[in-house]
Amino acid sequence: LNKKQVEVTFLKANGEKIKVKANVGDSLLDVVVNNSVDLDGFGACEGTLTCSTCHLIFSQSDFDQLPDKPTDEELDMLDLAYELTDTSRLGCQIILTETMDGLQVKVPATINDARG
Ligand code: FES
Repeated sequence: LNKKQVEVTFLKANGEKIKVKANVGDSLLDVVVNNSVDLDGFGACEGTLTCSTCHLIFSQSDFDQLPDKPTDEELDMLDLAYELTDTSRLGCQIILTETMDGLQVKVPATINDARG
């Protein structure tokens, strides 16, 4: 395995920390799926920007360093997420880079499927 990997930690609302290895170039949704991270209902639309269940909360510094700004489509979807913060993004839109090693993201307590 010579693909570049980084470490990502998911912080669940109940205090549980799930640390996984992730491939650079994968989205945070891929990371959850590929590692079978136990987040109920996460990624319901499989990254097609129609659900908002992949809502994740970043630290301010991590958020500021994310390479891509959210698209209008992502912002529209984020508006439908519960517990929206200033440092919220949709995990399916965040592609891992080598500089994100050690990233920690908070998973909100409530996952809202905007598709109803
Ligand atoms: Fe549905 Fe990201 S997985 S918007």
